[in-house]
Amino acid sequence: MSLALPLGRGQVIGGRSGTILAALDLGTNKLACFIAQPGPGGGLVLLGRGLQSADGLRGGEIVDLEAAEAAVRAVLQEAEEQAGIVVETVVAAIGAGHPRSILLEVERPLGGRSVAESDIEAALARAREEVVASGSAVLHLVPLEARVDGGRPVLDPRGLAGRQLALLVHVVAAEREPLQAVLRCLERCHVAVRGLVAAPYAAGMGCLTEDERERGCLLVDIGADATRIAHFAGGRLAHVDRIELGGERITHDVAWGLSTTRREAERIKNLYGAVVWRACDDHVRIALRQVGDGPDLTTGEVPRTRLTTIVRARVLEIFDALAARLREHGEILRARPPRALVLTGGAAQLEGMDELAQERFGLPTRIGRPRGVLSGLRSDEDPGLSAVLGALAFGREGSGAVSLSALEGRRGVGDRLGRFRAWFRENF
Ligand SMILES: Nc1ncnc2c1ncn2[C@@H]1O[C@H](COP(=O)(O)OP(=O)(O)OP(=O)(O)O)[C@@H](O)[C@H]1O
Ligand SMILES: [Mg+2]
Repeated sequence: MSLALPLGRGQVIGGRSGTILAALDLGTNKLACFIAQPGPGGGLVLLGRGLQSADGLRGGEIVDLEAAEAAVRAVLQEAEEQAGIVVETVVAAIGAGHPRSILLEVERPLGGRSVAESDIEAALARAREEVVASGSAVLHLVPLEARVDGGRPVLDPRGLAGRQLALLVHVVAAEREPLQAVLRCLERCHVAVRGLVAAPYAAGMGCLTEDERERGCLLVDIGADATRIAHFAGGRLAHVDRIELGGERITHDVAWGLSTTRREAERIKNLYGAVVWRACDDHVRIALRQVGDGPDLTTGEVPRTRLTTIVRARVLEIFDALAARLREHGEILRARPPRALVLTGGAAQLEGMDELAQERFGLPTRIGRPRGVLSGLRSDEDPGLSAVLGALAFGREGSGAVSLSALEGRRGVGDRLGRFRAWFRENF
């Protein structure tokens, strides 16, 4: 429903604290848009939200520019009409370009003086140049730790004196062309991009507590076509990764296993899908419908336990693939062990996911839902909305997001709009 409020350009500045913020999540299944205003105590008041199917995109990448443009316009319009304002700038959470982690150690001579902010900036700039020269775009630059003269690693080396600084930099890099296609699409929708955020980073900012990010937390976002990981430690983003399995594969298995349509499989998966068996399930039978243009027909019944068996097998496979991938990056995890696991993304809603993940990974696990919204969002909201909410955090000053990615004042994705062109030149 559209609220008949006058729409006027120029009402949304889109970024600084105290003003209205807008964010987009360009997912596989859905496009989401949130418009919010900072509220008391660091929370957000949601003014408008839009949700549309991600036509023209596959895996977050533009495959049909016209269809994608129409879908982005539609999701913006839906949120704008609810908020009664026009969005001019956005921060977008993206999976396009397969964001991946690169660790670089950058050295800088100090000549006996103490480390200054400018040394860290110069080291980050060098890490960026190296990655850009290799042909990738840089999404995030995170200083993970520093050593002076080979001493003990510290989070903040400023003020330490010595001969040489070695900064360990976490670069989140992505393929250039898919990112450029996303930017082109947003440009055609007449929204200026204040920043792009790797989807799992945004999801982590949208559903984790500061304490979780500080103590070490593995964020697992199970979306439609992929499962994305973001590992936070010491309050910083330490690693991102992705495996090409998500909720769509579970739907496929259900359709195949129960000999039904994808649409019906999606419906019963979302309504009854579980990964643990409950004693009472023995008696629960699910009616399968033949969904079509005419009246729905019941085409048979299956015990819920059968659905659970199918769904659980695929989820275990996703968890195994995840565990194998984490082992490949064991070094970064051993140095910064996660103390908790948070599952988010639409498929995290399958019943018993936290229980199964806890058993499989041996870490206290919870389901992460968008948090920090004072009004306009229910507490049981879809975990798949974590990323759009997290992207809003990147538009705020003092939210922690900007310093986390070490971008503010250092030229990067979190830059103010005025610096976006400079960021584009430097990071592509
Ligand atoms: N209640 C539910 N139970 C189980 N699965 C669900 C439920 N609701 C949605 N899903 C599944 O979650 C997936 C979509 O998740 P999400 O909205 O996080 O994806 P996305 O952000 O569009 O995609 P991606 O992050 O992969 O680009 C779909 O596979 C959908 O079937
Ligand atoms: Mg997603």
